Amino acid sequence: MAATDLRLGAYRVRKGTLVVWSPHLAGRDPDSWRDPLRFDPDRFAEMTPEQKALTDQAWVPFGRGPHMCIGFALAQMELTLIISRLAQRLDLTPTAGETPHPVGMVVNRPTGGAPFLVSARSGT
Ligand code: HEM
Repeated sequence: MAATDLRLGAYRVRKGTLVVWSPHLAGRDPDSWRDPLRFDPDRFAEMTPEQKALTDQAWVPFGRGPHMCIGFALAQMELTLIISRLAQRLDLTPTAGETPHPVGMVVNRPTGGAPFLVSARSGT
């Protein structure tokens, strides 16, 4: 909620206006990310200091400021462990013809889930 009248980029925001940030749009901002729609986890390992300064502003899945998620470190550790344990044991194949559609709420998620075909990895 804007505490005072202010100017935000090209916009005039009046005191009392509800301002909602979007991690979905920030994560796809071509001014902040090179080739933003490409799935490229290595992009985080190969950043110049200038890119890192930009993406530090644009990577906001856990929010920012005084109300930033207090479960941030726990969630990242859980996700890393869960994904690595599942990837060791299972093959996940996207269901043909089904593209998950994102809901750009405060926390991103796909509408109706993200369907996959799941099978045990051979040799496990
Ligand atoms: C992938 C998992 C998670 C995501 C993406 C996430 C994301 C967020 C976001 C976007 C906010 C709001 C920040 C704001 O209001 O500006 C938030 C707040 C919060 N989260 Fe999480 N979160 C996750 C996991 C967790 C876990 C595991 C816990 C607890 C163990 C947790 C506890 C909280 C709490 C208590 C707040 C409120 C903080 C406050 O208002 O001061 N979150 N989270």
